[in-house]
Amino acid sequence: MSSLTEWWNYLKVKLGFQPDTAFVARQLKKPGGFYARKITDRMNKVNHRLLELTLSQLQSEGGERWLEIGFGSGKHLSRVISECNLKSLHGLDHSFEMIALAKTENAEKITEGKLELKLGCSSKIPWPESYFDRVYCNNLIYFWHNPQLHLREIKRVLKNGGELACGFRTRSTMKNLPFTNHGFILYEPGEWADTVRRAGFEELRQHLVTEPRELNPSLNISLESVCLVGRKPAAD
Ligand SMILES: C[S@@+](CC[C@H](N)C(=O)[O-])C[C@H]1O[C@@H](n2cnc3c(N)ncnc32)[C@H](O)[C@@H]1O
Repeated sequence: MSSLTEWWNYLKVKLGFQPDTAFVARQLKKPGGFYARKITDRMNKVNHRLLELTLSQLQSEGGERWLEIGFGSGKHLSRVISECNLKSLHGLDHSFEMIALAKTENAEKITEGKLELKLGCSSKIPWPESYFDRVYCNNLIYFWHNPQLHLREIKRVLKNGGELACGFRTRSTMKNLPFTNHGFILYEPGEWADTVRRAGFEELRQHLVTEPRELNPSLNISLESVCLVGRKPAAD
């Protein structure tokens, strides 16, 4: 992003105006600079029900090793470790600011060796193959221009029989939000299921929840949240 655009949007926000929708889109893809904290506060408000939906689909047997990709500020990470009784949780995000925020939020679990956070992209996941019992992400798939590349990497780091859960909002919902015109790749549930199936995941199951408009007054639309879970074949 040019520094002129950054300054223009900085000025707009300082004067109490909304930043440009293209700027918001870039921040959602990779939060950074003066707006990083603001956008994560907003994401935490609007996305917490989707996070709960995704977590509810991943029933841990206890002692498992999980990976979350694109965790935003990561406020929830310590809670996930305790509530899901994990051996360890690992996080990957390509935003330096998100890593820094999540490290501050979860310092205790990092010291205990229960949480590990790495800066990097889902196209090249910096863990060995067959390392995780489950991988999950929320509001990430819109940014994958070549989803098969990312799904292949996820499959590589999953154990045989391990699960992937992707939480997202449907195209019919998201197309009403102007920032999605700037490079977001949107899916209806069946389209995403086909994409995941093509990557070799099986036993797909899908859960859909509609959030009434009153729950998100700032957006003034009813959000349709989906979590799709797929399994890496037991013998791959
Ligand atoms: C729209 S935010 C969603 C944050 C959070 N999961 C939520 O639902 O509120 C997308 C997050 O994924 C990260 N991200 C986007 N593309 C990524 C990629 N290819 N690899 C790793 N992190 C990525 C961004 O830095 C950001 O933290």
